[in-house]
Amino acid sequence: MKRIQIINGPNLNLLGRREPGVYGAVSFETYLEELRKVFPLVQIDYYQSNVEGELINKIHEVGFDYEGIVLNAGAYTHTSIALQDAIRAVTTPVVEVHISNVHQREEFRHVSMIASACRGVICGFGLCSYKLAIEALIQE
Ligand code: DQA
Repeated sequence: MKRIQIINGPNLNLLGRREPGVYGAVSFETYLEELRKVFPLVQIDYYQSNVEGELINKIHEVGFDYEGIVLNAGAYTHTSIALQDAIRAVTTPVVEVHISNVHQREEFRHVSMIASACRGVICGFGLCSYKLAIEALIQE
């Protein structure tokens, strides 16, 4: 069974309640149930933290064993060289995802410190961005 680790960064624990006009009204836990039904043959593990170092620890923990990591690093996307280094340090391919189309938003969101280290980037499809990322990873 393929193992995919989803990692959500800061403020994504508030999905469903946080700026629903931008991020939607569904919690990630609810979406995760759907996602697991769509991919019954994939083990989908989920981790969320608001702490940069904990995101790095999780990447280290799974990043030599799992078949893929789907990472929404939230605002750390735009700032974190440490996350870029962690992605480069492991062998598991990482897909950067965003719920919103960051390129239609403020200019500071147009820059990703992690994209260059990732296998690919998916953004702008709402929570469906995660499903598209898993599809891409299991086709590898
Ligand atoms: C986000 C986009 C980021 O710019 C923002 O800081 C987030 C969420 C997204 O999923 O659209 O926290 O990663």
